Amino acid sequence: MAAVTLDGAALARRMREDLQPEVAAFTARAGRPPGLALVLVGDDPASHVYVGSKRTHGAEVGFRVDLHQRPADTSLEEVLALVRDLNAAPDIDGILVQSPLPSAMGADAARRVFETIDPAKDVDGFTAENVGRLVQNREGLVACTPAGIIELLERQGIAIAGKRAVVIGRSDIVGKPMALLLLHRHATVTIAHSRTPDLPAVCREADILVAAIGRAGFVTPDFVKPGAAVIDVGMNAVTSEADVIGFFGADSKRHEAWRKRGSVLMGDVHPAVADVAGALTPVPGGVGPLTIAMLMRNTLTAAERRVR
Ligand code: GUN
Repeated sequence: MAAVTLDGAALARRMREDLQPEVAAFTARAGRPPGLALVLVGDDPASHVYVGSKRTHGAEVGFRVDLHQRPADTSLEEVLALVRDLNAAPDIDGILVQSPLPSAMGADAARRVFETIDPAKDVDGFTAENVGRLVQNREGLVACTPAGIIELLERQGIAIAGKRAVVIGRSDIVGKPMALLLLHRHATVTIAHSRTPDLPAVCREADILVAAIGRAGFVTPDFVKPGAAVIDVGMNAVTSEADVIGFFGADSKRHEAWRKRGSVLMGDVHPAVADVAGALTPVPGGVGPLTIAMLMRNTLTAAERRVR
């Protein structure tokens, strides 16, 4: 059995198309477009790619997108001051500070920056206020990756209520909010992690398996109940040729791509899972585009709440 591919890129396109008339209506009503401020500090190459994509898609749906780029030696105080200015800016509805921040800023820099963002403009859903609202299943702004995954499951008609869901990974950004969103939709939810005994057996219980570990190809077919929906949140750069051949084969497109670039992107889910799962998100083209589409949805939601 070959798993159905859950095309996140196509769904993200539809979500942006759905947003465009709503953004136009907001702009006509408010006399200005929704405003999204992107803050990018330092020169992490992946962050530059992600922020570039957020900027392009934000402009495409009709937002005003301001990019605030700062060098790697910017102080934490300067970033906090910028966030406070954006909190006070009347035409800015959403603030996103891309993580990771440069390590020189200190271990708790990201948390301090996120906590400074006005919860009404916290389109990442990372502030304690919005996390608390999620725990209590109250109106707020929800982290984009897990919210995008729920949108994908719902639009694909994959039932959640009454199902067993296992989330591998307990991060604040994905694992924990993912588990809460599934719980609020009446799944029976397990959060598994690196210290879970017999992880494959726990995962094999899942009708919906979400892999958010950050280890290339970690979820092998023995983790997967036949027919399960498998959601791959991983974005891992694989640089070893032996690993690329081991995962994809010597004659594969990925091996060809590795020959050109010396690196390929892959998720946390082993390619052989496609023979067992009922449905599977690809990497790239699965969860990533949905995360960005959800950021657009959150920004419009924040704008509408601020002007109502
Ligand atoms: N870095 C990786 N993913 C994210 C995200 O969703 N939001 C922010 N702010 N930074 C990230």
